[in-house]
Amino acid sequence: MKKTLALALAVVMSLGLLAGCGGNGGNSGNTSNPPANNSTSQDQSGSGVASSIPDAPEGGGTVGVCIYKFDDAFMTTYRNSLQEILKGKGYKVTVVDGNNDQAKQNEQINTFITQKVDALIINPVMTSAADQIIGTVKEAGIPTVLINREPTAEQMAAYDKLVYVGCDAAQSGTFQGELILETANQGDINGDGKISYIMIQGDPENIDAQLRTEYSVQALKDAGKEVEQLNLTRGDWDRNRGQEIAANDLAQFGDKIEVIFCNNDDMAIGALQSIQQAGRKVNEDIYLVGVDALDAALNEVMNGNMTGTVLNDAVGQATEAVNQMELLLSGTTYSSGNQSVYVPYVKVTPDNAKDFVK
Ligand code: BGC
Repeated sequence: MKKTLALALAVVMSLGLLAGCGGNGGNSGNTSNPPANNSTSQDQSGSGVASSIPDAPEGGGTVGVCIYKFDDAFMTTYRNSLQEILKGKGYKVTVVDGNNDQAKQNEQINTFITQKVDALIINPVMTSAADQIIGTVKEAGIPTVLINREPTAEQMAAYDKLVYVGCDAAQSGTFQGELILETANQGDINGDGKISYIMIQGDPENIDAQLRTEYSVQALKDAGKEVEQLNLTRGDWDRNRGQEIAANDLAQFGDKIEVIFCNNDDMAIGALQSIQQAGRKVNEDIYLVGVDALDAALNEVMNGNMTGTVLNDAVGQATEAVNQMELLLSGTTYSSGNQSVYVPYVKVTPDNAKDFVK
């Protein structure tokens, strides 16, 4: 029930988003009327379905989905949602695990091309591989939706049947900073006039990690606060790394740490274990924020063990990725500078956390 509601909300949000921000401003196709169905799935309705659907893309409805690695908490929710939506619409979908290895993902993309899939949805392993990925799908002429790791506008401009679906990473950082500013002492627990923090960063090659790191602190500075970075360490989005880094920093800096910024929730949940082991109490003598709104993090926000998080709307992004894929399949092309479609982030506090539990 909750899932259905979340999905409905995501659809409404993405419709609003398309109408409102003009993410497809440069489209040359008819964006308001995507094909209703592209099913050729044997298990849904048997063979010959495609020919009975006038709008079905020529060649059927097979979709290859490349995920950078399955062992990522946020991308697990995302890929499950993608699979559910695509299957629900009758596509034949294959989802593959890149194991955090760009060479492996390149092979997977080539295999999908050899299999003549109708469309690709790709979560690149390395943002720096974008040129190569875009070159490959362009040469094969396969409509492609990139997700989660945003290339530059210039890189995407190389191929007009390519679009990126994600979020404005700077916004999530700003929300994290605001969560700290909204606390009783605005992050300055010891009253020394500055906010002393450690930053636990995702994979720094990823723009989400770069912008969250920058904008969380920028929000504090914009509010006129003095800040002190005690440490910044890459945790590669990983819970265990979050735990180790927080343990080391708590041992080294002790009570000096007033805020722990984590670029995602999985690392924040790891950090929470170390905070508790160190005998510290979130929202009393330390603040802790993440991004994603994983269910585990939402529970900790509601229990007062995390100060807050930011909804990184996996269902909304999966819905939008499929929507954009269907637009590409129906002939939409994109012009340079209009190839990123953003789903909004939402700030999550104890007041609204329950609304996002899946
Ligand atoms: C999410 C992280 C995830 C990463 C994968 C980010 O947007 O916040 O949790 O590990 O994407 O690229």
